[in-house]
Amino acid sequence: MAEKMNIGVIFGGRSGEHEVSLMSARSVLSVLDPAKYNIIEIGITHEGAWYTGKEVLAAFEKNSIKDLVPAVLLPEPRQKGMLYSLRITASGTELAPIAHLDVIFPVLHGTFGEDGTLQGMLELADVAYIGAGVLGASVGMDKILFKDVMIANHIPVVVSVNATRAEIKNSIDVVIARIEKKLTYPVFVKPANLGSSVGITKCRTRSDLLEGLMEAAQYDRRILIEYGVNGREIEVSVLGNESPRASVAGEIRPCDDFYSYEAKYINPDSELLIPAPIDAETMKKVQEIAVRAYTAIDCAGMARVDFLLDRDTNELFLNEVNTIPGFTSISMYPKLWAASGLDYPKLIEKLIDLAVSRKTDRDNTVRTYRSEK
Ligand SMILES: Nc1ncnc2c1ncn2[C@@H]1O[C@H](COP(=O)(O)OP(=O)(O)O)[C@@H](O)[C@H]1O
Ligand SMILES: [Mg+2]
Repeated sequence: MAEKMNIGVIFGGRSGEHEVSLMSARSVLSVLDPAKYNIIEIGITHEGAWYTGKEVLAAFEKNSIKDLVPAVLLPEPRQKGMLYSLRITASGTELAPIAHLDVIFPVLHGTFGEDGTLQGMLELADVAYIGAGVLGASVGMDKILFKDVMIANHIPVVVSVNATRAEIKNSIDVVIARIEKKLTYPVFVKPANLGSSVGITKCRTRSDLLEGLMEAAQYDRRILIEYGVNGREIEVSVLGNESPRASVAGEIRPCDDFYSYEAKYINPDSELLIPAPIDAETMKKVQEIAVRAYTAIDCAGMARVDFLLDRDTNELFLNEVNTIPGFTSISMYPKLWAASGLDYPKLIEKLIDLAVSRKTDRDNTVRTYRSEK
């Protein structure tokens, strides 16, 4: 029998979405087959410290890391993905090998996990990992740059204005005038680099906008302000490396005024409709645009692509690409694949295969100059 692969599942992280990541990891761990894989759990604290050991996720859920082992992965190819335990004592630092990680699944949302930073570290370490690489992850994370790339690719997005924290701090009146010149209320104010609706407000009036800008500026240096669409929320899952394909699309009917943090994770009353009750033409368009957007930002492995479908005009806008979509028990990404004929355990196996084949492809890249002679 072939040797079992070691799969490192990383969760938590230095992100406002730390708790969401734990929920996603709980669900991913429940479908990873221990008969097929050795699973090595790695938790990253809010402060960025890595821990491994037994029942790491359970310890993180209980907020008690005292029985866990500090761990590190060195950003160096010779280590071949070796995870080390780390002991710092008065007489020095000790590293002891724990396991070679064949594939890493970063089940991390938001900053330092989904934004290309961790991906850069994994590239340096030269290990296979699930999901987009540095570029896809970072462009997918940055709502401002992402829109510019969509516009360059003729993919429809909602009209918007940008602002910086410094502008908001020093001349908020100028920022508000700029917004009101281009957009009408309601508008959505969003930090450029967050997810799970953290820091996002829907503003109906100038005073809402003032508050919304101040709130968003606490979370990021760069802020995006968008026209508020009276939109239906349509989501589609994309899977693949070189030939990505799209699942059937679904629709979310949020229980809140918009799909807020509360509506996503706390209040169970948001409805998921799979497939989305949209006509065949719109379904096709959603799937086609999703794959184009995925390719445009150089995604790999997986992404969930979210749209807003205007209730009044039927116009379709691409809202965002999530390169590490939610994997909680109610999450759309696996549910849409299940509805498209790929069940959850098979989906995870496919993601592992895609990570391995992307790594093989990378290994075949020539890194030295070859003379023509
Ligand atoms: N321009 C917009 N018009 C209408 N609703 C929006 C708009 N932008 C965001 N929303 C609402 O806010 C939610 C969160 O915004 P989104 O851009 O998806 O950020 P996040 O990365 O936090 O999920 C969306 O799912 C939607 O309900
Ligand atoms: Mg979203």
